Amino acid sequence: MQIARTISDLRAARQQMRGQVGVVPTMGALHAGHLALAQAAREENDYVITTIFVNPTQFSPDEDLDAYPRDLEGDLTKLEAAGVDLVFTPTPELMYPAGFQTYVNVEFITRLLEGVHRPTHFRGVTTVVTKLFNLTQPDIAYFGQKDAQQVAVIRRMVKDLNFPLKIAVCPTVREPDGLAMSSRNVYLSASERKAATILIRALETAADAYDEGIRDGETLEQIMRQVVMTEPLGEMDYVSVVDARTLERPHPNSPMLASLAVRFGRARLIDNRLLPAHLNTREGLDSTLGV
Ligand code: PAJ
Repeated sequence: MQIARTISDLRAARQQMRGQVGVVPTMGALHAGHLALAQAAREENDYVITTIFVNPTQFSPDEDLDAYPRDLEGDLTKLEAAGVDLVFTPTPELMYPAGFQTYVNVEFITRLLEGVHRPTHFRGVTTVVTKLFNLTQPDIAYFGQKDAQQVAVIRRMVKDLNFPLKIAVCPTVREPDGLAMSSRNVYLSASERKAATILIRALETAADAYDEGIRDGETLEQIMRQVVMTEPLGEMDYVSVVDARTLERPHPNSPMLASLAVRFGRARLIDNRLLPAHLNTREGLDSTLGV
């Protein structure tokens, strides 16, 4: 496994790759959710590049940039075992040198859902992902369902800006009790960790209601809200049921995205599920989420 710490090293290593290249962008502190993306990329490409970069521009000043977990040595061991060919680990100074002033902004869907609570977040994501795409030149780039709106935003950007690549979406990997794996789960105390299953319980309750024939978005949201409100340790940011393609008002006969964000102390957790439930697979997600 090669490690590129500079842009010239990355470009040199990329130029040696003749064949299909899969890229997995991450912020490190890798867990089984990230590794599932690397495994899918390994199976489907001749070469796999993983990027590890805690991207400052997607954190607002009151968020956890400094506290964000970092474990480069552990990450490299895991990526080597996953069969990754090349890891790009730039510094903030390399990605955002003095004088940097160019940003990529997806307009409308970045203002919905997460965008209401994190108004500058997606501008940071789309800017860094554009840079990472330009640097690594993937044929396929892999993203997780865990950040479903991020997938929709990046798909929109890829289409609007004619990036010559495909976005693949892998299902959310969960702990045995259903909590979505996240680098931020380390912030949870023991009691918060137990309480955090409220997210998947709310989503499953909405999925059950959907299966029973309920198709009204507001009713499904209300069902989720009632579940979240039974958990005193969790403070709800939002619950939402939208059209899975547009992230706007859902239609009874089109796939829906149920999602929510709940704070536990300093941890802000998000989770989602497509409705109907059979869409929460690689194929279902690939064909349903975003444009
Ligand atoms: P990060 O949070 O490190 O996640 C990297 C990728 O792993 C994302 O595509 C995310 O959706 C996916 N992922 C995280 N947890 C997952 C889980 N439990 N199951 C499946 N996939 C999971 O997302 C980012 O970094 C950044 O915004 C980035 C795209 C790297 C840009 O900075």
